[in-house]
Amino acid sequence: VPPAKLARGALFYTTPSRQFPTGATLPVARRLALLKAAEESSAWILEDDYDSEFRYSRAPLPSLHSLDTAGRVIYLGTMSKVLYPALRIGYLALPPSLVEPFADLRATAEDHGPFIDQATLAEFLACGVFYSHIRRCRRAYAERLETFLDSARPLPFRFPHTDGGMNLMGLWTAAPRSSDDALQARLDEAGFDVAATSRYAIGPSRRGLLFGFTAFEPAVIRAGCRRLAALLDR
Ligand SMILES: Cc1ncc(COP(=O)(O)O)c(C=O)c1O
Repeated sequence: VPPAKLARGALFYTTPSRQFPTGATLPVARRLALLKAAEESSAWILEDDYDSEFRYSRAPLPSLHSLDTAGRVIYLGTMSKVLYPALRIGYLALPPSLVEPFADLRATAEDHGPFIDQATLAEFLACGVFYSHIRRCRRAYAERLETFLDSARPLPFRFPHTDGGMNLMGLWTAAPRSSDDALQARLDEAGFDVAATSRYAIGPSRRGLLFGFTAFEPAVIRAGCRRLAALLDR
């Protein structure tokens, strides 16, 4: 939850499209309040829109960057989710006043970017294949999400945020007696790469597991949910 006031000149980092690991989205009213707070205290907002390409059932909310009339938002995107993380290419959309300082900073920090990768990506974008790739991924992931939600019905979880991203937070409907550490060990042993939500929390948190669904064919998802149901039943 963004604060109502920001310190003068502060930098406020946020992922409004999708908070990891909960999957929560920042509502428009809060986006507008955050922009107002940034304008009032000349603060900067760093909007990390790392997986906004993957929305399945509803249109995405407008980015902070698109709502910003005062030039306070630095928009950050990445190719890591939509292509692959080893590519190491991201991008910034900057308020005009920051373009030159950032270009200077970039030149000082790293003068030679990955030119060949960048040129290849530029070609991939220019010929339109990038966009058909995104549409194909979105279709496949939407099907995998639907399969997962359907197959996970017998599992003791509820999924509060199911519209986007590449993973889903499932909150226990009846928390297990065993600790997250003990549970994690059992899951690891059975070959499940799912993390307890407490792993991402500094303090006490709602208990749950984080499920990835985009990397698996529907048949694998169905079989995995059946195996998990059997494991949790023991
Ligand atoms: C919040 C957030 N931002 C950005 C990224 C992407 O980082 P990078 O572009 O360095 O791969 C990730 C990757 O998981 C992420 O979780």
